[in-house]
Amino acid sequence: MPGIVVMGAQWGDEGKGKATDQLGDRLDYCVRYSGGNNAGHTVVVNGEKHAMHLLPSAVLNANLVPVLGNGVVIDLDVLFGEIETLRERGGPDVEQTMKISTNAHIITTYHQTIDKVTERFLGKNKIGTTGRGVGPTYSDKVNRIGIRIQDLLDEPILRAKVEAALEQKNQLLVKVYNRRALDPDQVADHLLSYAERVTPLMADVPRLLNTALDQGKVVLFEGAQAHHLDVDHGTYPYVTSSNPTAAGAGVGAGVGPTRIDRVIGIAKAYTTRVGEGPMPTELLDDDGEKIRTDGAEFGTTTGRPRRCGWFDALVVEAAATVNGFTDLFLTKLDTLTGWEKLPVCVAYDVDGERTDVMPSTQTEFHHAVPVYEELDGWTEDITGCRSLEDLPKAARLYVERLEELCRVRVSGIGVGQGREQVIMINDLL
Ligand code: IMP
Repeated sequence: MPGIVVMGAQWGDEGKGKATDQLGDRLDYCVRYSGGNNAGHTVVVNGEKHAMHLLPSAVLNANLVPVLGNGVVIDLDVLFGEIETLRERGGPDVEQTMKISTNAHIITTYHQTIDKVTERFLGKNKIGTTGRGVGPTYSDKVNRIGIRIQDLLDEPILRAKVEAALEQKNQLLVKVYNRRALDPDQVADHLLSYAERVTPLMADVPRLLNTALDQGKVVLFEGAQAHHLDVDHGTYPYVTSSNPTAAGAGVGAGVGPTRIDRVIGIAKAYTTRVGEGPMPTELLDDDGEKIRTDGAEFGTTTGRPRRCGWFDALVVEAAATVNGFTDLFLTKLDTLTGWEKLPVCVAYDVDGERTDVMPSTQTEFHHAVPVYEELDGWTEDITGCRSLEDLPKAARLYVERLEELCRVRVSGIGVGQGREQVIMINDLL
């Protein structure tokens, strides 16, 4: 079973790296297929923690080929910054192994500026973006005025494209947002300063991956963000601008749907969200604060406190259905230790009517009030548990109920920060 997608089932930050870690040395390729440095995961190199935003989460595994697919948007400063960090701290020299799709788009300084000023302009209607220029870069891609990795191979073309894009954007920056115009030469010079280093990394990624799959190699497609941040399937407009959903792996890496054998959804044992947008089970009281403190729920990219709440089964069930999850991997079950009762959202009351599935319109979802079922909590420390049998009965029943409500088998459970703090029920390969 060599083509595996690992993706978030909620609003991001589910701890996808935990599942990836379980595949460990068996991976040959780890491919990011969507998003940019709006994502974030922590890697530990020689005992030291580092936040990574763009490189795939399995990058520490020196035997695999890290890949950035065409669906990714790349900030070259961030990319080479992360490569340097790994190298300086004694991690693998990714520059020797990684491949970047010639068709991936580049995040430029004007995309970052536009991201920030647009959010400011939106005021209380803001999306709460990470401010990394991700949305504006995807807008340009769809508008057909984007700058691609392959443009670094052709200086006159790159200069012409930057100039054309800025001709329009400078009008916007100056006349609408009251900002200074950007100099196209400066932007182009900055991008071209990376040309020599990027050129050897460029690849025909679709051919590379399809050949690898033909040879029975194990290819992991790593989704950044999550189902409910998907621009098509998420809680629009409070979403990111790409397709983190499983089908996005096909588009964003260049493989057909028949190449994906397994779709592993990752969900926290509760719910979190950063940025704006509806979240029916959000707790704005001390209970929410307790989950945030116990789970250290602060964003890796922006440091923002995450909004916290009880597990919402409708949210995860919707993700399982649309993405065809073959497995669910529950993370941070240990964070829930110590509660007498654990409410789980099993339905919504929408304007007096009960629904057992996520509504399909924004207005209904904004009106959704959770209907809770109270499950028993546990007080025992579960961080040392390594099998289902080791778990206290209440924790086992909690997992079983989630499995039933989300209609997908739970194949792994995270019970602590460490790589080994996991209960594996079904092999992920
Ligand atoms: P953008 O992706 O920076 O445009 O932000 C759009 C929305 O997606 C905002 O609500 C962000 O907080 C959210 N978002 C983007 N990346 C992540 C992530 O990796 N985890 C959680 N939320 C994210």
